[in-house]
Amino acid sequence: MNKIHISEDFRRLGSLIPQSSKVFVIIDNNLKQFYKYFERFEIIEIHTSEKEKTLATVETLTGQLLARGADRNCFLIGVGGGILTDLCGFTASVYKRGVKFAFVPTTLLAQADASIGGKNGVNFHSYKNMIGTITQPEWIYECTDALKTLPPREFRAGIAEVLKTFILFDQEYYGKAAAYFAELEAFRNRYGSYCTDGISGNAEGRIFGQEILTDIIRKTAVCKCGVVERDPFEKGERRLLNLGHTFAHAIEKNCTIMHGEAVAIGLVLAARISAALGMAPESLARKIETDLEKTGLPVRSPVAAGQLLEALEKDKKVDGNNIHFILPQAIGKVTDTIISLKTLEDISRDLC
Ligand SMILES: NC(=O)c1ccc[n+]([C@@H]2O[C@H](COP(=O)([O-])OP(=O)(O)OC[C@H]3O[C@@H](n4cnc5c(N)ncnc54)[C@H](O)[C@@H]3O)[C@@H](O)[C@H]2O)c1
Repeated sequence: MNKIHISEDFRRLGSLIPQSSKVFVIIDNNLKQFYKYFERFEIIEIHTSEKEKTLATVETLTGQLLARGADRNCFLIGVGGGILTDLCGFTASVYKRGVKFAFVPTTLLAQADASIGGKNGVNFHSYKNMIGTITQPEWIYECTDALKTLPPREFRAGIAEVLKTFILFDQEYYGKAAAYFAELEAFRNRYGSYCTDGISGNAEGRIFGQEILTDIIRKTAVCKCGVVERDPFEKGERRLLNLGHTFAHAIEKNCTIMHGEAVAIGLVLAARISAALGMAPESLARKIETDLEKTGLPVRSPVAAGQLLEALEKDKKVDGNNIHFILPQAIGKVTDTIISLKTLEDISRDLC
């Protein structure tokens, strides 16, 4: 299973990189500021976007590895956000029938979620993550210094996944994370940057409350790792991680929005459904909405209820006339529920 190293800085990274193998660093070409940590190794730069998260890019990476003499003992390190780690993990799992690999995730979303769990998917035509493997990296090095240059919208997209994890598993850390991210957003509103030197995107400063952020990321990683260890192939408990995602996917189908933003709205909608079904107090949805709003995330669906329902009916979680939902009952307590489409239709008018 994953060995995850959490740190504020890059200092311990060097000691994890194997000396005996030829090391190839696959890195997002947006991230020139991190090249200095990998100067000793072969660097393969790629441009990342959802359109390029495809088998064609895997083919390009394979060609590069072959041309540079990567053998079965080589070691790949993927440095970047979730697109990069997915591409690197997929390539490593199939190159010469599988070579060892590791990740240095550089977005909050990738540190909290995408790099953990061994899922390595690429898109196929318009279908997201349609082709993939479940193969675990040797290690993951997560450091909060990497997040200093992250644009605010990308940062917030990760906050939604962190808060989702704590709604599922940890009431105490939910409170801690919601309070910290609200303060961080207030700080950014005041000084124009997450960094204490006030210079936006500066790789040298320090993130406001960085030690708290590092602890929150550590706890998020522990929660996700626990689920993945107990249910590596998503047969049961791992499905809980889809909290907020059924609505998020329906919103993403109907408008251009970042995934994390759609998850934030999805979390509020899931809590409202839970209240409408009498499974949670109405105050839960209000609390989640307020907490997310304070972090700067959107909480209202830009898509009307009718359109959302149409998209939900086409969702792969629909089974006959029923749909699977993960619904929160309290912070730290959720349930995997089946709701009939008719019931959903009846309560959905008041949702958006
Ligand atoms: N494998 C999984 O289990 C899993 C889970 C969740 C999401 N995902 C995948 O993750 C992807 C989204 O990942 P993401 O949100 O990290 O997006 P991303 O990889 O597209 O990165 C977002 C943007 O931020 C830039 N960036 C990355 N790190 C930076 C940094 N430190 N400073 C400045 N800019 C930086 C990137 O160049 C990119 O433009 C999706 O493709 C999704 O399917 C996978």
